[in-house]
Amino acid sequence: MTPREIVPGVFAVGAIDWDRRIFDELIPTPDGTSYNSYLLRGSEKTALIDTVDPSKFADLTANLDRLGVDKIDYIIANHAEQDHSGSIPAMLGRYPGAKVVTNQKCRDFLVDLLQIPQDRVIVISDGDTLTLGDRTLEFIFAPWVHWPETMLTYLPEDRILFSCDLFGSHYATSTLYVPDEAVIYESAKRYYAEIMMPFRSSIKAHLAKLAAREIAVIAPSHGPVYDRPAFIMDAYRDWTGDDVRNVVVLPFVSMHGSTQAMVDHFTTALIQRGVQVHPFNLTKTDIGELAKALVDAATVVIGTPTLIFGPHPQVVYAAYLANLLRPKTRYASVIGSYGWGGKTVDTLASMLDRLKVELIEPVYIKGYPREGDFAALDRLADAIRKKHEEAGIIPS
Ligand code: FEO
Repeated sequence: MTPREIVPGVFAVGAIDWDRRIFDELIPTPDGTSYNSYLLRGSEKTALIDTVDPSKFADLTANLDRLGVDKIDYIIANHAEQDHSGSIPAMLGRYPGAKVVTNQKCRDFLVDLLQIPQDRVIVISDGDTLTLGDRTLEFIFAPWVHWPETMLTYLPEDRILFSCDLFGSHYATSTLYVPDEAVIYESAKRYYAEIMMPFRSSIKAHLAKLAAREIAVIAPSHGPVYDRPAFIMDAYRDWTGDDVRNVVVLPFVSMHGSTQAMVDHFTTALIQRGVQVHPFNLTKTDIGELAKALVDAATVVIGTPTLIFGPHPQVVYAAYLANLLRPKTRYASVIGSYGWGGKTVDTLASMLDRLKVELIEPVYIKGYPREGDFAALDRLADAIRKKHEEAGIIPS
């Protein structure tokens, strides 16, 4: 990578990670990612906003060398997670006069996680400002953008918001700005689903807080920079809002074809009733795509066989994850087949305790589905269609 100028004196100096394919050992990143770091030159002081993942430290220092940066006064730590903070210790070694500027909670994490000396940290409060001479940094606390310590940094003179993970995307691109809004929409939605969806109400409050500010550019810590902030802010308002769509998300596993036959019939029944459906075969699916589909789907129906006496372990994994991610889904049900018994439906229902969903009568049958079972699936599709109609999601 090479430094890219956003406005005179403000540069993107981070690193692109073209090859990263998993994050947190959990989240697939099929399009790679970037760790964005920004250099701000004021008339008196120089600041660096966030650093990069330690694996890319050399890229950051190469960019700073290209710009001839021999002194950094402040390293702003918007977030303590190591993909942004992990290079701070090495940066403090490289720039011995630099101080880390962050909030109390973030400082405590940096001390615990990276053993940064407390005397190298300046602690600021929400709304505090820091002057660089002809430029000012304003700190906006935004807790639970997935960690409790996250903050944003606003540069009023240039109307740039350095938003950290908020509005980010795991998308490696050589362009500084969003290359294609339709592509980045999908990537940003997936990113929102994977890490921010559980904190929907906090994010909503952050959006309201930002509404009062003039923002010309949003510079997140992953993915390209937004020169049309309304694009991503509108998308976030939609994702964090209460509206859901006329969609059934159908994650499933089938061991011997019975559940598959039910899924196939049920998918067709929903289509025939004007309800969109998105089946995810969990043995093949990318879990990030499933998370993205959950952002605004009205209904989740889980399809599973019974293995020994409970749901298939891959279904358990997906249900556990969905419960953690806490989508705004309103209705849920279960379909599937068992051989000799078990408590599959009860087990799954108890696993979704964090979701505020209404459980619609499951269709859980013995063996391969018969005529009466297909009719029960049709009735489930009818019930879902009716629920969606009553909720105003589709016109009656
Ligand atoms: Fe990109 Fe929460 O770190």
